[in-house]
Amino acid sequence: MISSTAVAAMKAREIERFIAANPKSKAHAERSSGWFQGVPFHWMLDWPSPFPIVSAKAEGATLTSIDGQVFDDFCLGDTAGMFGHSPPALAAALAEQAGQGLSYMLPTVKGAELADMLAAMFGLPHWQVTTTASEANRAVIRWCRGLTNRSKILIFNGCYHGAVDDVFVDLREDKAVHRQSLIGQVHDLLPTVTVVEFNDVEALEAALRQGDVACVLAEPVMTNVGMVRDAPGYLDTLRRLCTETGTLLVFDETHTISSGYGGHSNTHGASPGFGPDIMVIGKSIGGGVPCAVYGFTVEIAQRMEALNRSRPAGHSGIGTTLSANALSIAAMHAMLGQVIARDAYSHMLAMADRLVAGLNALIETRQLDWHVSHVGARVEFVCSATPPTNGSEARAAMNPALEAAIHLALTNRGILLAPFHNMMLLSPVTHASQVDRLLHELGNVVGELREYRA
Ligand SMILES: Cc1ncc(COP(=O)(O)O)c(C=O)c1O
Repeated sequence: MISSTAVAAMKAREIERFIAANPKSKAHAERSSGWFQGVPFHWMLDWPSPFPIVSAKAEGATLTSIDGQVFDDFCLGDTAGMFGHSPPALAAALAEQAGQGLSYMLPTVKGAELADMLAAMFGLPHWQVTTTASEANRAVIRWCRGLTNRSKILIFNGCYHGAVDDVFVDLREDKAVHRQSLIGQVHDLLPTVTVVEFNDVEALEAALRQGDVACVLAEPVMTNVGMVRDAPGYLDTLRRLCTETGTLLVFDETHTISSGYGGHSNTHGASPGFGPDIMVIGKSIGGGVPCAVYGFTVEIAQRMEALNRSRPAGHSGIGTTLSANALSIAAMHAMLGQVIARDAYSHMLAMADRLVAGLNALIETRQLDWHVSHVGARVEFVCSATPPTNGSEARAAMNPALEAAIHLALTNRGILLAPFHNMMLLSPVTHASQVDRLLHELGNVVGELREYRA
């Protein structure tokens, strides 16, 4: 058992240590009052430290702070840098594009090549580009409602698909409610959003058989409420029920691109004909340059064309000025052409296996009632004994105080985990020595917690 007193004592100790080790970051926080709450974007405050580390640069799988500390980076920009920070091919492509104009509202030659690369990697023939994954999901929801003439979408409890109004609905005590933390929510989402637990076939079937759901929008493995694995056969059942009920199936593979080449549905889920109708991918596809894509089948493309022919000219409600600008096209072209390759995944998966084996050994030797969640290059240790099967169980398994103390202690030992749950990403440029150091330091931190005496 790890006592709450041990956790609180560690947090207090590590805060002191963090403040002493990061004087320049502290001074930076104090003079950044021009930014609301001291940062240009409030998520930068989600780390468990008293003020954020100020980054000087990041290369490969390391990040250097203005205080000169070099961190082994397992956060990797919460997936945006999952293939390594500034891969040389990306840096070169961006430098080349920088002198040739960045946004023309016109196609480029690289864009045509990129569409072929996307089709080859993800197995869908038609694509569109947006500026963020949030925007891609918003566009896709609009398309699905337009294509089916149905108003509802179905999501899974605990999901996250970006800043997308339509999906901020939770199940609390079996009732759908607006996510309680929302700011300025005026539209009632409940009439047009159905939310069920992941892996609950009965609830899914009952909802889809109503015949009024435009699309299921899902991650094929939930990754934003901790990780929740698909039960064996679940994705095939989901696909079958969508087909039988005329519901479109959208896989948001923004995070699960880490599962393997082509994303999770191509690596694990897809018996032939069992892929999604539409797939969304963001973040890492541009290596950190804002961009995202959504791909779809021939049938969906034909229905989109028919819908376009049937509506009056004018705004569709889809698209923003900077979408598919030349810089983001150049970024994705470099990433897909030279970085996100099959052999890159071989290394990532080998590093993930090394980390998982080490975490399991640590859990066993320290007799922790924890478990490891792992798909492809995405790994989490969860401070509860049993893997969750749905969003509610995953929320219940979280231990924010313990997680924050561990994150901060690891930060002070030069290791960055994602600030959300205990997410660790392995990149094609993560070294085995970085994985071993993480395991060693986590072992030390757990040892301190276990051996704490007040
Ligand atoms: C599954 C998933 N979809 C979409 C998004 C939104 O991405 P962005 O914030 O880049 O719009 C996220 C962000 O974490 C995500 O995890």
